[in-house]
Amino acid sequence: MSTHNITVTVNGQAHSADVESRLLLVHFIRENLRLTGTHIGCDTTHCGACTVLVDDHAVKSCTMFAVQAEGADILTIEGVANPDGTLHALQEGFREMHGLQCGFCTPGMIVRAWRLLQENPAPSEEEIRMGIAGNLCRCTGYQNIVKAIQYAAAKLAGAPVQEAAQ
Ligand code: FES
Ligand code: FES
Repeated sequence: MSTHNITVTVNGQAHSADVESRLLLVHFIRENLRLTGTHIGCDTTHCGACTVLVDDHAVKSCTMFAVQAEGADILTIEGVANPDGTLHALQEGFREMHGLQCGFCTPGMIVRAWRLLQENPAPSEEEIRMGIAGNLCRCTGYQNIVKAIQYAAAKLAGAPVQEAAQ
């Protein structure tokens, strides 16, 4: 069994571990670090439930080996809240606009949307839909997810936010 020592920073905290070459990043995050907010929703790399940021790129962490993350700065859903512990605008948006039902896709959606709003702070509805095209939601029909991201974009820009979804 081949192992390698890796050091990564996850949500601002440095971690060092010996990992097998075959260990997927998502399993390292969930099992080694016990950060179980990053979900596994498929075995075909298409659902996006496992999305994390790796050096500011939204990545499906089931498509990457842990050893490939050596030296990387990783953000998971557990690191999204504001430093004072209040909800990030995206988390607030998903709550206010009913952007989830079962919630299984939500961590990956929020992390993907985080990057989307970094790249484009004022996305159109079409740009939001394109931006989350790699993240599947099996419950909501996406409409309120789009509204949640629009809510967050408005809030982060200091603009008035929409009324809560019905
Ligand atoms: S678990 Fe990674 S894409 Fe589905
Ligand atoms: S809220 Fe259930 S999969 Fe998206």
